[in-house]
Amino acid sequence: MNIERVGVIGCGLMGHGIAQVAAVGGFQVHVFEADAKALELGVQRIEHSLKKLADKAVEKGKKTREVADTDTVDALKRITTALELEALADCDLVVEAIVENLEVKNSLFADLGQVTRADTILASNTSSFPIGEMAAASGRPDRTIGLHFFNPVQLMRLVEVVRTEATDDAVFDAALAFGRACGKHPVSCRDTPGFVVNRLLVPYMTQAIQMLDRGDASKEDIDAAMQFGCGHPMGPITLGDYVGLDTTLSIIEGWCARYPDEPAFAIPDSLRTLVEAGKLGRKSGEGYYEWDGDKKKANN
Ligand code: 3HC
Repeated sequence: MNIERVGVIGCGLMGHGIAQVAAVGGFQVHVFEADAKALELGVQRIEHSLKKLADKAVEKGKKTREVADTDTVDALKRITTALELEALADCDLVVEAIVENLEVKNSLFADLGQVTRADTILASNTSSFPIGEMAAASGRPDRTIGLHFFNPVQLMRLVEVVRTEATDDAVFDAALAFGRACGKHPVSCRDTPGFVVNRLLVPYMTQAIQMLDRGDASKEDIDAAMQFGCGHPMGPITLGDYVGLDTTLSIIEGWCARYPDEPAFAIPDSLRTLVEAGKLGRKSGEGYYEWDGDKKKANN
């Protein structure tokens, strides 16, 4: 099963990163976004990130300036954009990275089942929804899989490859090979809530927020404890801001509704309050901390 042409649906936080690592991995990438402005912003983010990584490679002596610039131009040339889903019809693999809403995703997978070639592999980058439901909606459950990347996609080395009972072995192997070609370390997981990472990470972040809400420790001390006590690159409250408080809330809300008897799933009060106030973390400039772009402001 040979993957050459890759469709990416959504050019937001995750989609632009997936498109970028696929292009750098040598694939022809077609990025679809329904909204022209969002598409333009996504492509700008890719250009910015490629430039940053090229500069880093030169600084570290890994590439000459000329090679780094040529690689950047070549990767960008491999990316084309589209405002019509039909542009992805001939892709060998299509990766969905749209809003975390299962109804919207199911409807998209039903469309993809119609629009793409019968042998196209369909993948979802969902953080928390069952792949099996999207697989059923697509009408080709044997060719549907989870490919869950991590944020920021360009820097995080992991991809979770999630298979259902129905996934064809050759499709699974092709997805693993695709992950490797994108420079990632693939791990495989069954179709379970949150797969490996989010099943562990989301309860950890919400426990940390509950600790803050109870007044057990300050956010700075909770973060410092996990950074300096456990060697994590960011503490859990900072990480919640970094991935997006709305994303974290929507994952945990979905799980609380679906699995009410699981004690590890609970919604902290302050998380709901901040999201209702539009304080979503890094992406809105404020969450538990204040942010300036990708960095926390120095005053907090
Ligand atoms: N492209 C290119 N360069 C980037 C980049 C990107 N997308 N994002 C950051 N960088 C650059 C920065 O600009 C910076 O460059 P500089 O050194 O010239 O300033 C460099 O990478 C390092 O970044 P930072 O200065 O911010 O420093 P860090 O050493 O802290 O690295 C990090 C950043 C890799 C994000 C690190 O903090 C980290 O690993 N954090 C944890 C992230 C994590 O856990 N992600 C998973 C979240 S869970 C998830 O995604 C699942 C989802 O389903 C919810």
